[in-house]
Amino acid sequence: MSKVITKYVCQNCGYVSPRWTGKCPNCNEWNSFVEEAPVPARVARKSGSIASKFEPVPLTQVNGHEEERFATGMSEFDRVLGGGIVPGSVILLGGDPGIGKSTLMMQIALLLKNKIVLYITGEESLKQIKLRADRLGQYSDSVLLLPETNLELITEIIERGSPELIVVDSIQTMFRPDLESAPGSVGQVRESTALLTRIAKTKNIPMFLVGHVTKEGVIAGPRVIEHMVDTVLQFEGERHYSYRILRAAKNRFGSTNEIGIFEMHDTGMREVKNPSEVFLSERAYGTSGSAIVASMEGTRPILIEVQALVTSTSYGLPQRTATGFDLRRLQMLLAVLEKRGGLNLGTQDVFVNVAGGIRIDEPAADLGIAVSIVSSLRDVPADSQTVVVGEVGLGGEIRTVSHSERRVQEAAKLGFKRIIVPKNNIRHVKLKMTPQATQSKGGIEIVGVESITEALKEVLG
Ligand SMILES: Nc1ncnc2c1ncn2[C@@H]1O[C@H](COP(=O)(O)OP(=O)(O)O)[C@@H](O)[C@H]1O
Ligand SMILES: [Mg+2]
Repeated sequence: MSKVITKYVCQNCGYVSPRWTGKCPNCNEWNSFVEEAPVPARVARKSGSIASKFEPVPLTQVNGHEEERFATGMSEFDRVLGGGIVPGSVILLGGDPGIGKSTLMMQIALLLKNKIVLYITGEESLKQIKLRADRLGQYSDSVLLLPETNLELITEIIERGSPELIVVDSIQTMFRPDLESAPGSVGQVRESTALLTRIAKTKNIPMFLVGHVTKEGVIAGPRVIEHMVDTVLQFEGERHYSYRILRAAKNRFGSTNEIGIFEMHDTGMREVKNPSEVFLSERAYGTSGSAIVASMEGTRPILIEVQALVTSTSYGLPQRTATGFDLRRLQMLLAVLEKRGGLNLGTQDVFVNVAGGIRIDEPAADLGIAVSIVSSLRDVPADSQTVVVGEVGLGGEIRTVSHSERRVQEAAKLGFKRIIVPKNNIRHVKLKMTPQATQSKGGIEIVGVESITEALKEVLG
């Protein structure tokens, strides 16, 4: 590739400048210029002529076979992807430094024993990678390592060999020598992704791009690349917990509701097949301010402990803090408890925490949060054998939730004695559940409630 003249384009208004400027002279936006490589005239002309040859195709005649996926054998990982890796798809794996992205990628590479995996590393030496692989398990000759960041050379190597899966660790270290800007800059990252995506699509090789996440939680710089890839996976976790959660923020080949849960060990990421047990393992029995909710993570119900601490405000405005739960939702719940439950929370600090470093963002957890708050306020422990499910409406009514029978089954499976559900869900649950599960002896008792006061009475007495 010869040196080409690139241009800088304002990402806000499209103003073109021959060199980088901090502030756009056209729209006055700061820091909006990104280097862009010009499309060679040859390519532009060619693609134009190809386009004109195509005729519109009737939908009925489009070959609509389900893409052939291959599973990695790590079921938590496959589920998040929507059932496995689709050939030719480009998957961005984002996460904080040190969260375990390289570890997970290497594990996947080692699992795919009958595929040739090209692992391109721009961050670690071969020796470092070998040390990690030694910890992770057995390996064969099918994993090829390439310590390189120059995409011109990488493209050649991909052309020469025939890898069946490519891992690029990380996209921020890759650079195109025909661009002026430094590796890691937005322009470089974007153009590098464009080039790699083209290779993946034309050669039908699935590709993982590892990306770092900035402090603000966006995949560094390359917000711009999220739309270029097929799937965006986020690897999350609290530094102080060993749990790691893999989520799909975008998926062209599957749902974005599924999560995969892993536990980090020195031998790599271990799948957590039964998350409820794990999230409940450190429960504090008999203390006030704790409730168990059944939350749906994708198609899977997970039992999670939610905790609240309510103390009188000693100075200034009362504080409200939520970890793992939406703060505005908490404020709404407090308002409902005041107005419909007749509680005085205006002079209380309220702290809510979802245990285990997980995040709940579905309304079915409302009632559990409300119960934990009132439990702490009154200093009365909630019944430890009861699970609470329900959305709280502004009128203090308990509204129906989705997948009620699966939540009840999960609670029954883990040996809980009672579950509080919205009254309107009861019929549905009883229809779907096997009689053995709901009969009193050894089974779970299902209690339907209509209002928040009724629910509080059931759980807290
Ligand atoms: N020898 C080791 N034994 C156990 N854990 C290790 C070892 N070496 C590194 N780790 C852990 O692995 C993690 C690094 O994972 P890595 O996959 O390199 O993260 P990322 O690629 O996301 O930056 C670190 O949190 C580190 O604590
Ligand atoms: Mg890494």
